[in-house]
Amino acid sequence: MPLTPHGRGEGPSPGLQSRTALRYGTPESDVFFVESVCEDPDVIAENIVQVKLGSPDYIDCNTEEVVEDFMKRIKCYENSYQPLDEVLDRDLSYIKIMDVGRRYLVNQVQDHIQSRIVYYLMNIHITPRSIYLCRHGESDHNVKGRIGGDSGLSGRGKEFAKCLEKFIQEQNIKDLKVWTSQMKRTIQTAEAVAVPYEQWKALNEIDAGVCEEMMYEEIQGHFPQEFALRDQDKYRYRYPKGESYEDLVQRLEPVIMELERQENVLVICHQAVMRCLLAYFLDKSAEELPYLKCPLHTVLKLTPVAYGCKVEPVFLNVEAVNTHRDRPENVDTSRMPEEALFTVPAHQ
Ligand code: F6P
Repeated sequence: MPLTPHGRGEGPSPGLQSRTALRYGTPESDVFFVESVCEDPDVIAENIVQVKLGSPDYIDCNTEEVVEDFMKRIKCYENSYQPLDEVLDRDLSYIKIMDVGRRYLVNQVQDHIQSRIVYYLMNIHITPRSIYLCRHGESDHNVKGRIGGDSGLSGRGKEFAKCLEKFIQEQNIKDLKVWTSQMKRTIQTAEAVAVPYEQWKALNEIDAGVCEEMMYEEIQGHFPQEFALRDQDKYRYRYPKGESYEDLVQRLEPVIMELERQENVLVICHQAVMRCLLAYFLDKSAEELPYLKCPLHTVLKLTPVAYGCKVEPVFLNVEAVNTHRDRPENVDTSRMPEEALFTVPAHQ
């Protein structure tokens, strides 16, 4: 939401090429302004190419025409744009970002949320890079349809790990970082990739509490009520003595922050964890998140682009069991077991 801090009449300072002021939060006393001032011609031109070439305003125009025309438009915007002023706005809470993070001016940070916004904005970057997300190779528990636990890789899982190594080599990625959870199946997968890797406890799979190592059929058998409650609100449902997706999202926050700071990273993780990371990059809602499809043996290459993220799925050609259970139609606690189990994927 482009917004100027207040209604003063000063014009922009000379040479300003592109600016945005954003306002977060209500009521007025909680307003935190974010201003991004970019005077770097290369960044501006690149941004115009990435964002404006596809605009309906520029159908049938070539790149040079678009850049030239949009530069003129920026000049017009400058006439009415009001920047944050270091002296006049000294009582406002704000961050001013200069040239996409070359410099910052932070003023009057009032509370925890504002300091988190500042921290976040100071850690993101626009250096081109890709994030590779995948799950561990198929595990012994996956084959048996058991959730959680800490089993090792199946034969096909090991084969996937080798293919992952080949895929990563072929991609020829500059300074790739590899992250795993602390679970055997992700570590075994990374070992085969034969590059140094870092283990994150925060990347461990969702803790299914009293349901750990059960099959969905067993959960329905022992805890039919819980199974239905999870289907009713999968994002917020917390396993007894375990976690919810909502908990997981919180646990993953430091991982996400570090992913924002890093360049090329391969994250070898788990189904629920991968859904959370994917949802962050693709801006998916809490309702969609727990049902995102993250099949085994498939790498998702995410490349941030202006205002979004390009996703390229790469199946590494090693068959694996399906572990995705769709939301069944009947989520009532009084449903029949068959109705609850209707969408459970086939397994051994
Ligand atoms: O089945 C594999 C698995 O990673 C389990 O360990 C985990 O509990 C589950 O997927 C998460 O998926 P869902 O939230 O759909 O049950």
